[in-house]
Amino acid sequence: MQIAIIGAGYVGLTSAAVYAKLGHTVFAVRKDAEKVAMLKRGQVPFYEPGLPELVAEGVASGRLIPTTSYAEAVPKAEVIFLCVGTPPLPSGEADLSQVFAAAKEVAENWGPSPSPLPKGEGDRAKARSGEETYKVIVDKSTVPVGTAEKVRKVIEENVKLKMQNVKCDFDVASCPEFLREGSAVHDTMNPDRVVIGVDSDRARDMLLKVHEGLPGERLVTDIATAEMLKYASNAFLATKISFINEIANLCDEVGANVDEVARGMGMDPRIGPAFLKAGIGYGGACFPKDTKALHSIAFWHDYDFKLLKAVIEVNQTQRRHFLQKIRQTLGTLEGKKIGILGLAFKNNTDDVRESAAVDISAWLIKEGAQVRAYDPHAEGNARAALPELITCPAPQEVAKDADALLLLTEWSEFRDLPWGTMKEKMRQPIVLDGRNLLDPKSMRDLGFTYISVGRP
Ligand code: UDX
Repeated sequence: MQIAIIGAGYVGLTSAAVYAKLGHTVFAVRKDAEKVAMLKRGQVPFYEPGLPELVAEGVASGRLIPTTSYAEAVPKAEVIFLCVGTPPLPSGEADLSQVFAAAKEVAENWGPSPSPLPKGEGDRAKARSGEETYKVIVDKSTVPVGTAEKVRKVIEENVKLKMQNVKCDFDVASCPEFLREGSAVHDTMNPDRVVIGVDSDRARDMLLKVHEGLPGERLVTDIATAEMLKYASNAFLATKISFINEIANLCDEVGANVDEVARGMGMDPRIGPAFLKAGIGYGGACFPKDTKALHSIAFWHDYDFKLLKAVIEVNQTQRRHFLQKIRQTLGTLEGKKIGILGLAFKNNTDDVRESAAVDISAWLIKEGAQVRAYDPHAEGNARAALPELITCPAPQEVAKDADALLLLTEWSEFRDLPWGTMKEKMRQPIVLDGRNLLDPKSMRDLGFTYISVGRP
């Protein structure tokens, strides 16, 4: 099939590369000419394991076509995915301006598409004559319920306005994406479920066809349900994290071990083991934004979503709670040399959006500490977010003369550091592990004062 993907970030580019791998022809539309030139060379402008190889393969096969031009992509496309950003407004609501701007440009570049699933010779003749312009416009960005309907209006109005002689036959749909940064390729190639929110059989059949060849259950719903399902999934995962963080804080008080508590809870199939890792709270481009957006949706419908409000509050407090632990351990922070291991919001990504590690670094600097940090991939983005941050090219360098080391991102390589040598370089052998990554006994056996979250 011929597909256009508008927006080539984590979701858009990964989806484009995977659909190309499935055998579709995919136009990946991005306005930034420099980034498109990179993509054409098979390079990816952000760190995502496995994606550069998949993009290079798609571009070399001719099935993945990066372009800055809607005019090149839209007329040929049968299915158009909107994968642009929906960042939070100060109110917490999702900013949909990029979604509507993309829909408008799609409309302005409307044109005949090859007849999808032609039913007979009549349809095929129509397609050949260029009369057939049926397309499915799909929201893949996380958007509030009702957005697809607004997209429908934007397209109708703008196609009519610009191209009065072109028949505008289309459906809107919602096809939320559940990939995680750091494992985006794996998640997209192996979805647990493909959710298809549609209000027509024709759109349903086309979207089922797009995803042919991928494993996972197909769940066909109405559009509003699909839109809500994505928010509900992210909010529930965020709830699990905030819940276990509160249990961890209580474990600190009562002398229990949260890792073992979570392991035991996870053995119950009704609970499941995933997303029960205590730490310094969730960050990233999705959970903080989507929980706030869902809370705001509830607010505008006069519904007080108390549980979600608490989830958001607990998450905001959790990183401050860790700062408090640092203060309790080191006393005043003024003049203290503190080494930071990890700046990304999670491992296997260079993304620092809403990163607890960057927030904590900023607070330490504000309190007069001398902070030096290491991250295998996120140093550049962290310095852009926090220019006063000093970064080092190796973990051993942040350990040098440090009064304490803070482990703030769960990179597995930190587990294998030569901790004995690290200790020798430090002024005081203190490690505060905000991700419960290291083994408390091994660290204490090495002579460290080792403090983690919910493992007294
Ligand atoms: C999330 C969802 O998992 C994904 O389905 C959705 O499409 C986008 O949002 P992502 O933000 O990329 O994905 O990463 P994820 O692995 O979910 O982690 C989010 C945050 O939660 C990270 O800061 C991570 O460190 C934290 N986390 C995750 C925990 O603190 N504990 C856990 O048990 C799991």
